[in-house]
Amino acid sequence: MITLSNIKKYYMDGYDRIEVLKGVSFSVREGEMVAIMGRSGSGKSTLINIIGGIISPDEGNVLIDEAYTDYSDERALLKLRREKIGFVFQDFALINKKTVLENITFVVRSKNYKDNKYAKVKQLIKDVGMAEKTDKYPFQLSNGERQRVAIVRALVDNKKVILADEPTGALDSENAEKIINILKKKVKEDDRIAIIVTHDSEVAKHCDKIYYMDYGILKEKAL
Ligand SMILES: Nc1ncnc2c1ncn2[C@@H]1O[C@H](COP(=O)(O)OP(=O)(O)OP(=O)(O)O)[C@@H](O)[C@H]1O
Ligand SMILES: [Mg+2]
Repeated sequence: MITLSNIKKYYMDGYDRIEVLKGVSFSVREGEMVAIMGRSGSGKSTLINIIGGIISPDEGNVLIDEAYTDYSDERALLKLRREKIGFVFQDFALINKKTVLENITFVVRSKNYKDNKYAKVKQLIKDVGMAEKTDKYPFQLSNGERQRVAIVRALVDNKKVILADEPTGALDSENAEKIINILKKKVKEDDRIAIIVTHDSEVAKHCDKIYYMDYGILKEKAL
């Protein structure tokens, strides 16, 4: 389970203090996939980057699997990200000098996913419709194809928490639907947690809950 308690985040704009998150509290349980919606600049990426240990909150706590995230401990943050968090970044963050397969396998730690020459990884690549592109480099791919590589990378190793920032932003509606169903299946089958930032209400409809970022406060939206 992930629990956020009263998370606040400020940025300085000259002498002005901009409060991006004004006390966000919510929980997500195992087996749940939730959507976070809200206008551009409302703090959605800030929020999932805090959960993923990439940036620190100014106030409040994040509890993941009964452990409070210690934002002052860089090594603990690295360990958290390596072991528990599968991140799909808004800009994909692929490595240009690695192929599709290498971009994914270089994060793999579990024997399960290394077995049989990465058979489980290759299956996931096939599931997202990228089987023919495993040996291509990111520059040879379309944006939507890059996005699918980023999604597979977040799913390998059975990472407990999947944080996805606009994971379908570059995809057509057919592929978006396919990807969201794969994500959902992984969450339900393995009792994982997914938090998905999206502007797409079709994507949000597939989630168990929809939250809306409203002037620094996160509100649950009726489905
Ligand atoms: N490092 C930073 N320094 C100053 N301001 C920042 C910083 N990062 C984000 N902000 C500001 O915080 C606000 C929230 O940014 P954030 O990226 O979380 O928004 P978002 O909801 O993800 O937007 P989008 O939908 O466009 O991706 C924005 O107004 C942004 O300008
Ligand atoms: Mg964002």
